[in-house]
Amino acid sequence: MKKFNDLKDFADEEIHALLELANRLDVQPEAQVLRGKVLSLLFLSPSLRTLASFQAAMIRLGGGSFVISPDMSIHGLETRPGIVMDGAAAEHIREAVPVIASYGDAIGIRAFAERRNLEDDIADTEFSSLIELIDTPYINMESAMNHPCQNLADWKTLDDLGIPANGGKFVLSWAYHPKALPLAVPTSTLYTAARRGMDVTVLRPEGFELPEPLMQKARQAAEAAGGTVNETDDRVAAMQDAHVIYAKSWSSTRHYGDKLADQELRSNFVSWCVDEPWFDNARKDCRFMHCLPVRRGVVVSEPILDGPRSVVIHEARNRMLVQMAVLHQMLGSGS
Ligand code: CP
Repeated sequence: MKKFNDLKDFADEEIHALLELANRLDVQPEAQVLRGKVLSLLFLSPSLRTLASFQAAMIRLGGGSFVISPDMSIHGLETRPGIVMDGAAAEHIREAVPVIASYGDAIGIRAFAERRNLEDDIADTEFSSLIELIDTPYINMESAMNHPCQNLADWKTLDDLGIPANGGKFVLSWAYHPKALPLAVPTSTLYTAARRGMDVTVLRPEGFELPEPLMQKARQAAEAAGGTVNETDDRVAAMQDAHVIYAKSWSSTRHYGDKLADQELRSNFVSWCVDEPWFDNARKDCRFMHCLPVRRGVVVSEPILDGPRSVVIHEARNRMLVQMAVLHQMLGSGS
């Protein structure tokens, strides 16, 4: 495997093989398989789970990793193309990225959306420009529109819980958050649930529709896998017989890049905090999923997050296991 960027790059059998490998490595550790291998980790955006789980994954497989982020004692990273560097930053990403990559056998890169121009972000322009600077295998640790490690972990979580692929009802719900957040998790989660063959409903207020090209990508995946994709702002209809609700806040696509207009629109939807009444007409055992970090009492009520519906810690642990599988296939002896 030379890149892990988007689940759409993988055949069904390849996804299932990664999930099986993740399950195997959980019970049959291979503590030497990546001995001598180094993973470079570049975080241009913040993280807790991705940062910790990649380092833990490399240690568990016998390899090592190092982390670089702009918060560290480095020379100040300039990212703008064509700039005269007479300001604070003393190093450009055009040198920094290939240098970091040259120290490892593979590189993981996180660079959130710039959220200025929706078309650029849909095209994952910034991430693509970083990838052009390297020639080592790479892992997308979250870009403007992709978060494949989270997606694979969520797929594993759905399998672990026995939630059916065909016939399973998956509600991807917008939730209130005081800030405008990226679209990577909601759009790639939508694709993942559709690709798994589930009946997916996107529940969101008007103005927070997901971009049409990504809805289309999910519809095509669902059609091929025997599932469906719908969207609505009607919570009761959306939650009818749901097996799982996956909550996430995201930016208004109507006001993309316009902070003030987004703020004004989202302030009408403070009540979109997932709570027990949301589950009134769902399946009794309907689960709550979220990629984390999550704001308690804002995105989801504390009783739901701390209660039996929540599988958020299970999801987070699965991050490490599926990344071990990806690293095993990317850097192991059979790669
Ligand atoms: N879910 C996730 O990617 O978490 P972090 O942002 O903490 O890495």
